[in-house]
Amino acid sequence: MNIVILAAGTGKRMRSALPKVLHPLAGRPLLAHVLDTARTLNPSCLVVVIGHGAQAVRDAVAAPDVQFAIQAEQLGTGHAVQQALPLLDHAQPTLVLYGDVPLTRASTLKRLTDSAAEGCYGVLTVTLDDPAGYGRIVRDQTGSVVCIVEEKDASAEQRRIAEINTGIVVAPTAQLAMWLASLKNDNAQGEFYLTDVVERATAAGFDVVSAQPDDVWETLGVNSKQQLAELERIYQRRAAEALLAAGVTLADPARFDVRGSLRCGADVSIDVNCVFEGDVTLGDDVTIGPNCVIRDAVIGVGTRVDAFTHIDGAQIGTNAVLGPYARLRPGATLKDETHVGNFVEVKNAVLGHGTKANHLTYIGDADIGARVNIGAGTITCNYDGANKHRTVIDDDVFVGSDTQLVAPVHVGRNVTIAAGTTVWKDVEDHALVLNGKTQITKTGYVRPVKHKPKR
Ligand code: UD1
Ligand code: CA
Repeated sequence: MNIVILAAGTGKRMRSALPKVLHPLAGRPLLAHVLDTARTLNPSCLVVVIGHGAQAVRDAVAAPDVQFAIQAEQLGTGHAVQQALPLLDHAQPTLVLYGDVPLTRASTLKRLTDSAAEGCYGVLTVTLDDPAGYGRIVRDQTGSVVCIVEEKDASAEQRRIAEINTGIVVAPTAQLAMWLASLKNDNAQGEFYLTDVVERATAAGFDVVSAQPDDVWETLGVNSKQQLAELERIYQRRAAEALLAAGVTLADPARFDVRGSLRCGADVSIDVNCVFEGDVTLGDDVTIGPNCVIRDAVIGVGTRVDAFTHIDGAQIGTNAVLGPYARLRPGATLKDETHVGNFVEVKNAVLGHGTKANHLTYIGDADIGARVNIGAGTITCNYDGANKHRTVIDDDVFVGSDTQLVAPVHVGRNVTIAAGTTVWKDVEDHALVLNGKTQITKTGYVRPVKHKPKR
């Protein structure tokens, strides 16, 4: 089967410089969702018709299995399909999808293509309470589809028809090419309508069959930011329902967003307003507090992530405690039973088993062993203005508060670093390290007093 995805339109009502089909739904372009669904049908040929913002659209979805056809001027849906014809296998049927209709289930498309298996013309239709704006499906007394009439061309009587054209069709390609060549644009919009092919097919004695989706939202398109927001909510509600069905606790399924893939073990609990991006895996018994943003992360069994924690590109072991207000950046690897507390930033660093950094700390480009206690206000000075260097801290080190570790530097096992120390030379195992400082105390000191302003 050939699949053609129409994606050349301007999308004026989006009021945006970004081509419509590139607006993100669940973090990915609308068109990427359509391509995903198309791929599940294993098409032998997959063509995207581009026009408005062609280069940007091409750049966004280019892949070895995707071909592009250019529709330089948007002269209608029929004209758009025509541009793809030279790339299609004319011995196979062609399924036409829309780049701005992102939520169609593959099973629905399969039903349509199956029902149109014997070389007939298949149309995906749906019955709406409010069919305004859509092409209407006109049937004869026997129930056979006669034609599709666009709202702008419809009579008052035709406008009362509630069954509409979703736009998704499947047709025998060689005949489709002939029918498209015979289209005229003598209609209200001066366009070459793909919908007019139905009349050509019936006139040529072809059966026109129809199929319906399980849910109306499968056929909803995006023409405006309002519709985009509605589809986003439908997508997120379905994602939440799937997690609930799998046993995940969501404090509020309406305040939860997944923009990628989220895999959860047993007894995972997620509080409100969390956003999951990219590939996230949560082990059994993981608890996520409110307002966390978690991207591309693996979080081990029993770990607790408290409120307002931001995780990006991190691996976290079992029974760790993160946050509130922790920030893990790419390359953060936290072993089992680690604690990373408020206003602690970890980047490109390993924290060994049971290591704790609970307050106000920056750990970047570091290898930290097991059972290390990192006091408040500790900073790895990893950047010399030109290059990054590593800090290595061996097992069982005690790092006093307000310590600076000037990398590259190596602190041996069981070292104690006094509070307020700047460590810029390597320290051998079991040592105490401190900087020579003198505390000066002047007794009976009188503070300056604020002058009263003169008037
Ligand atoms: C079309 C159908 C209508 C159906 C509706 C469903 C026609 C004539 N009408 O109407 O029966 O109810 O979809 O949403 O087919 N496109 C191009 N090139 C063009 C014109 C459109 O690539 O020259 C693309 C658009 O980017 C869009 C899709 O085709 O993805 C539909 O175009 P649009 O103008 O929105 O068609 P409708 O008027 O909504
Ligand atoms: Ca439309």
